[in-house]
Amino acid sequence: MADPGQALTSLRQQFEQELTGARTESDLRGVRDRYLARKGGLVSGLLKSLGSAPIEERPRLGQLANTLKAEIEAALTARLEAAAQARPPKGTVDVTLPGRQPVIGHRHPLSLLRERIEGIFTRFGFLVIEGPELEDDYHNFEALNMPPEHPARDMQDTLYLSSPVRSLAGTAATLLRTHTSGMQIRYMERNSPPVRLIAPGRVYRRDQFDLTHTPMFTQVEGLVVGEGVSLADLKGILTAFARELFGDARQVRLRPSFFPYTEPSAELDISCAACGGRGRLAPKPGMNPSGAAGLAAPNPGMDPSGAGGCPMCKGTGWIEVLGSGMVHPAVFEAVGYDPERFTGFAFGMGIERIALLKWGVEDIRLFYENDLRFLEQFRP
Ligand code: DAH
Repeated sequence: MADPGQALTSLRQQFEQELTGARTESDLRGVRDRYLARKGGLVSGLLKSLGSAPIEERPRLGQLANTLKAEIEAALTARLEAAAQARPPKGTVDVTLPGRQPVIGHRHPLSLLRERIEGIFTRFGFLVIEGPELEDDYHNFEALNMPPEHPARDMQDTLYLSSPVRSLAGTAATLLRTHTSGMQIRYMERNSPPVRLIAPGRVYRRDQFDLTHTPMFTQVEGLVVGEGVSLADLKGILTAFARELFGDARQVRLRPSFFPYTEPSAELDISCAACGGRGRLAPKPGMNPSGAAGLAAPNPGMDPSGAGGCPMCKGTGWIEVLGSGMVHPAVFEAVGYDPERFTGFAFGMGIERIALLKWGVEDIRLFYENDLRFLEQFRP
């Protein structure tokens, strides 16, 4: 030990610092133990070290050391008593603690998308209606210009009930509806033009589960009827819808198609987001086979070969979004509308299909497996 007098002074300073730094009762007890423990405590260490001081100094130093010890004891006792006084009574709640965050769920991505679609059409002035999932042959097929034996019935594999049941609509249902198009008939039977509606809901088909099929899925049907409703209206509404949902950057086209309940019929395609409508993915830098880095592919339109072709749109540059067309006069006749006076257009889309396209999900089954790691990625 260099200078016992010096050691005394610096121990006092060190103690004062630590005492000031002690915030809690257990901090204080820690300080107490470090300084006052009989064995290994800093104060008893100091007392012991006095043995090496010159004999004539010892009484004075011993006195100083004992005074320091008494001061330390007194200061600690005072602080510990004050801390015990400030201790909250048992069982009290510290209202200043931050609250617990409850785990809050949110709607399923398919519900979010359905609400989004409903929101867009509601702003366009459409009514939203719902109808029965148990349906009869007349509304699902016959009134939609698909009489018995009509080959178009094979377009959808129907799930039939083993015996008819009374549906919510009060009729004898024999099948699970294969599409929401029957809602066109159900609404027009009971209401006169003008009509402007969408009808979302579940539909059922005899499909196996795979990447793009489930035996139950969701559709949104649309119907507009009035005097002078034209193909231009169809194109305008559906283009506006597609741009709202997928973004302004997408190109939109109508491609001729066939449905028994519309004439003419068309499918609405949007340009593929994965390849930007080029049909092939942009070559990685330095891997351009022509060696002309940065130049567009020689045939930017189509590449159905598969090699380098965009997997999202299979090289066509376009993605099919929905079916549509001008309402067939036979449908108007079935519901008692005058086909000479009224015209209209209809459309139908699959919500799951749109979800796959919009979010780049590769397997439709993910939407039905209730795995939170998947579902939590889709916030409202
Ligand atoms: N019902 C069709 C389907 O399930 C979709 C559809 C196509 C609905 C054309 C329509 C339409 O209203 O006009 O695939």
